[in-house]
Amino acid sequence: MKQPWGGRFKESTDALMLRFSSSIFFDKRLYAYDIEGSIAHCKTLQKCKILKPAEAKQIITGLNKILKEFDSGKFKVKENLEDIHMNIEQRLIDLVGPVGGKLHTGRSRNDQVALDIRLYLRDEIEAIQDSLTRLAKTVLAQAKKHINTIIPGYTHLQRAQPVSLAHHLLAYLEMFGRDRDRLADALKRTNVMPLGSAALAGTNFPIDRKYTAKLLGFPAVTHNSMDAVSDRDFIVEFCSAASILMMHLSRFCEEIVLWASSECALIELSDAYTTGSSIMPQKKNPDAAELIRGKTGRIYGHLLGLLTLMKGQPLAYNKDLQEDKEPLFDTVDTVRTSLDVFAGMLKTAKFNKFKPEELAASGFLTATDLADYLVLQKVPFREAHEITGKTVAYCIDTGQALEELTLAELQKISKKIKKDVFGYLSVEQSVKRKNVYGGTAPNRVKEQIARLSKIWK
Ligand code: ARG
Repeated sequence: MKQPWGGRFKESTDALMLRFSSSIFFDKRLYAYDIEGSIAHCKTLQKCKILKPAEAKQIITGLNKILKEFDSGKFKVKENLEDIHMNIEQRLIDLVGPVGGKLHTGRSRNDQVALDIRLYLRDEIEAIQDSLTRLAKTVLAQAKKHINTIIPGYTHLQRAQPVSLAHHLLAYLEMFGRDRDRLADALKRTNVMPLGSAALAGTNFPIDRKYTAKLLGFPAVTHNSMDAVSDRDFIVEFCSAASILMMHLSRFCEEIVLWASSECALIELSDAYTTGSSIMPQKKNPDAAELIRGKTGRIYGHLLGLLTLMKGQPLAYNKDLQEDKEPLFDTVDTVRTSLDVFAGMLKTAKFNKFKPEELAASGFLTATDLADYLVLQKVPFREAHEITGKTVAYCIDTGQALEELTLAELQKISKKIKKDVFGYLSVEQSVKRKNVYGGTAPNRVKEQIARLSKIWK
């Protein structure tokens, strides 16, 4: 079968080579963007008097017909036509005749594909931002319910100090806020119009690139044709932002897996986001969280793959660039689904409240508060640390919680300890005292909920 570029060829492409070089099976998902770009290009050709109005009209009618064929699943893609661009162009010629062959004037597949992925990614970044906002609102809603729920905060996965569960959840909202900014930044550099760069050098035809940009809603056009056809920074940048976002989701998932364990029992996940075991009837596994954690590895892999794809390519277009699409598409799909599944899982989850005595007995969470109390009694912090350490050792020996010690027992360890120490040893007091901006005290958490509610609308 003759290829659209077959003029200088005497032999036909080897069947395996054809399959190897064809991208239609994955780039067909760009069809709507390819058609949108072609319609804008056609209008520009008409405006610049390269196409007659009647010709442009015929082409646009044909393109809209092809769009309908795709939308209704009737379009039959042909592997020998390699990619989405040539499949659509050939179909156009079949539908409207030789005038269809005029559409590619002043254009190459190199700037065409650069345009298509920019149009595609621009939409997808917005969709991802919407999913991220839905998730953020879910985090906020859970946080609002748990301002006064106290849990142990950890360092080194050892119980450290009591914190509000809301404060813990809102830590992720800070991360998601930065993710949102990074995605918005990647969008700025995606939102630039490359058409008119043609194969690499620009075009002989006097086309108005700014007009094309306006038609397609791009705020800017690319400044260098060679860069425009070979730049995939915006994809790498998006995948980098996506990797960091997945890293955050994955950390959150890791905590959910821990919280859902019988050992921790802090969270009860809904049946809708868990699965059973085919052998152990009692099991309810946190698969959603585990899968998101697992998929994060794939997303990192795509980022590294793309960086490696780009590193050795001379200017300008090389066929290597066709390899940008599968990792990009998979990143987009995986991130979107992960965000939506995570939001559903979190929304339907129930947090269990710790009993006060459980918390009091749980790893001397207020030891630092005792040391801080001693500092208020003018004991240097190092000494206070030592005294508190001894107190903890005494508790371990006698099997008591800090709060359970009598004043006499405490004073045996340090004379500086007075009756008012008991106002420092409860977890509620400890949390309330973390009243610094950004701290876990309930009024500080409320302050952040108010700020974050304005950001995530
Ligand atoms: N399918 C190609 C890609 O994805 C389109 C551009 C082809 N350009 C070329 N000079 N062969 O990159």
